Amino acid sequence: MYKIEKLDNQGRGITYVNNKITFVPNTLPSEEVDIKIVLEKSKYNEAVVTKYYKYSDRRVESKCPYYKECGGCDLLHMSYEDTINFKKQKLEDILKKYAGLDTELEIIENNKPYNYRNKISLKIIDGKWGYYKGNTHEHISINGCLLAEDNINAFINDIDKLDINKGEVIIRNNYNNELLIIINTKDKININIDYLKNKYKIAGIVVNNKKYYNDDFFIEMINKKLFKVSYDSFFQVNRYICSKLFDLINDNVNEGDIVLDLYSGVGTLGINVAKKTKKVYGIETVKNAVINASYNTKINKVDNAYYLLGDVGKTIDKINDKIDTIIVDPPRAGLDKKTKEYINNSGAKKIIYVSCNPMTLARDIKELSNQYDVKKVTALDMFPYSEHCESITVLERRRRIW
Ligand SMILES: C[S@@+](CC[C@H](N)C(=O)[O-])C[C@H]1O[C@@H](n2cnc3c(N)ncnc32)[C@H](O)[C@@H]1O
Repeated sequence: MYKIEKLDNQGRGITYVNNKITFVPNTLPSEEVDIKIVLEKSKYNEAVVTKYYKYSDRRVESKCPYYKECGGCDLLHMSYEDTINFKKQKLEDILKKYAGLDTELEIIENNKPYNYRNKISLKIIDGKWGYYKGNTHEHISINGCLLAEDNINAFINDIDKLDINKGEVIIRNNYNNELLIIINTKDKININIDYLKNKYKIAGIVVNNKKYYNDDFFIEMINKKLFKVSYDSFFQVNRYICSKLFDLINDNVNEGDIVLDLYSGVGTLGINVAKKTKKVYGIETVKNAVINASYNTKINKVDNAYYLLGDVGKTIDKINDKIDTIIVDPPRAGLDKKTKEYINNSGAKKIIYVSCNPMTLARDIKELSNQYDVKKVTALDMFPYSEHCESITVLERRRRIW
């Protein structure tokens, strides 16, 4: 029998087997369990629970029937309040340990704990759809996902109409409950369009990167701004938290600023502030997203935002203007060395760093700390019941006293 001592940063319980640290998902501090080791490394083990002897009084019953096998969520055995406290503590601990930052941050909660995701991705094997279990290729078939929006859940029960035996389907839903269905498969498929279009608003179906039915994009809306989003362009998965993110960025950009929006996707964050700024430049690596961003300036009547296609690190030198504020919203890997060098030499007064990975955020803040001080960190619960947490950090250039 093993006792869980505390949680790690991924929300897994920690116990020790012959003094070796062992991570056990779906456990809470003080719980007593039997475990089976599923991965043995030189410095740690990963294990699963085979029997619970004692439950924590903080444990709640998961509302998802697939939770034990699925691995898509990490924290469904906690109350929402406890997940929020866990994420706040996690972010504070990581920032302290890896960036030397002592901060008590505010966390913005989601407006609803479940059914918030506007996009899910399912694997189809032998005509059955579902998720892969944890980091494995073990397939768990599902008939619904507690985190997905209601319209996506309705569609899940009609995936058989797509006629896929083996492949992948990505279901995206917009503010108006229009669906964009993206399919990757080697099967020759014959989709039952008549059935689907009578039952759902289908913005489009894309098969193997080609338009199959209607459009290969849809229009999203956040804070009354419209965004064309192609099937392969990124969009924030949680519309409510995205709207809060827009507000926070707006509060931190000054009138008349020249703004750089790095990793700009379909132009969301820059277009959100464009009207109060002098100029916005965006850089993004997905071609369709850049085309979307230019289109999105027009539908939002913005005439001072310009978008460049390219890798940020390799393209950033093309911007010759004197930048006041730099918004960065990189993928989980964070900023590369060239981008950090550029920022450190840019003279920009403010950096607004949107991050979905506190480890790379902490690393990058530290590497910017010769020039920039952190003014405020706010966490946003973009991904309720997963261990992940979005954050926005405002850094200001230190005033030099010569
Ligand atoms: C977290 S998303 C943010 C997008 C946008 N800011 C938004 O809020 O919708 C990161 C974006 O960076 C893009 N990206 C990833 N690596 C990149 C790179 N090295 N250079 C430019 N863009 C990159 C991705 O395609 C994606 O659109």
